Amino acid sequence: MKEIDVSGGSYTYKVYIDESTSNFNNALKNNDIQINNKFFIITDHQVHSIYRDKIDELFEEVNYKVLVIPSGEKNKNFNTIENIYKFLMENACDRSSTLVAFGGGIVGDLVGYVAATYMRGMKYISIPTTIISMVDSSIGGKVGYNFENIKNVIGTFYTPIFVFISIDFLRTLPNKEFINGIAEVIKYGIIKEKQLLYYLEHNLKSILSLDKDKLLYIIEKSLRIKHEVVSVDFKDKDYRNILNFGHTIGHGIEIVSNHGVAHGYAVALGMLVELKLSQYKLNFKKEDYDYIYYLMNSIGFPTKYKVDNMDLFMYAIKHDKKTENNQIKFSLVEEIGISKTGVVIDESLIEKAMEESIERRYL
Ligand SMILES: NC(=O)c1ccc[n+]([C@@H]2O[C@H](COP(=O)([O-])OP(=O)(O)OC[C@H]3O[C@@H](n4cnc5c(N)ncnc54)[C@H](O)[C@@H]3O)[C@@H](O)[C@H]2O)c1
Ligand SMILES: [Zn+2]
Repeated sequence: MKEIDVSGGSYTYKVYIDESTSNFNNALKNNDIQINNKFFIITDHQVHSIYRDKIDELFEEVNYKVLVIPSGEKNKNFNTIENIYKFLMENACDRSSTLVAFGGGIVGDLVGYVAATYMRGMKYISIPTTIISMVDSSIGGKVGYNFENIKNVIGTFYTPIFVFISIDFLRTLPNKEFINGIAEVIKYGIIKEKQLLYYLEHNLKSILSLDKDKLLYIIEKSLRIKHEVVSVDFKDKDYRNILNFGHTIGHGIEIVSNHGVAHGYAVALGMLVELKLSQYKLNFKKEDYDYIYYLMNSIGFPTKYKVDNMDLFMYAIKHDKKTENNQIKFSLVEEIGISKTGVVIDESLIEKAMEESIERRYL
């Protein structure tokens, strides 16, 4: 089992990365958690249907209750948050209790938010079960939910007691969800480390067939890159924005597709558009654009998309958290591995970049 120490604001916590869950109980005991107090495990329907027995096995030594919430981005809203609060109240959850997020990024973001707010802050543990949640959402401390058609617009920063990653969970993850998460790994490669893109390219087959060592490598590498960025700017004042690469356009696509395009796929399309913007504004090389386009294609990402409601798309982009004083700001890349935050972009240039990348009307 590998351990990475992660600092989040004024706290430090451990991220464990392992091949299986056999060391989970040690993690529990080594992290200053009173195991004779109550545990409240929150998971979603799909994960619960597969891992009901696993939950029993992992928590057999403790007193726990499980709440199953509906799966899907459409349920990442206040209604679900309210149901979690009610469940905690009804079961006399108090500050000696521990919450557990058992699932993907949605469960993680919701439970983290509840942990941050219920009784002004509870202990919580994160057990991510998707690639996205393993390489991205489970570290960095951003928790929250969607409101009025804007992604993650209500939220705060809050960190878990520890994160336990077991790559065994990935064996049941549908292929579509697996690819979905690889988008974030590509993002880390583009913004910080070209080597990671080469690694993906050269080991694609074994990664897609869930080779343990290759998975452990990309997960650890991604987490270290994310941690390196977050530790410099936990509260996202500026530098951390580089992690938003591909996400401004990506969030717009998630909204206009009514979440029909999942997060990673939307971010992959968003990265192509934002690489085009990088070409216009920062002289990002065309051959590098072509290389990333080729890599995405070979992994199985769709690279074509037509926004059918441009007004809603622009509304979503303008309300993205990175917009300030009505100026739309992007985090772009000068070259692979070198990012630049706060690049102001006109609406008309966004449309041009869309046309010349994912719409490909003029190519
Ligand atoms: N907080 C952050 O910093 C941050 C970073 C990245 C993404 N996010 C958020 O994360 C969310 C996306 O995360 P996600 O892709 O993990 O979504 P998700 O939680 O919806 O999981 C995807 C699907 O896979 C299912 N699933 C999960 N684990 C499984 C397993 N092991 N086997 C079979 N099925 C499984 C889930 O039930 C769900 O249907 C978005 O809401 C995004 O905004 C947050
Ligand atoms: Zn993301």
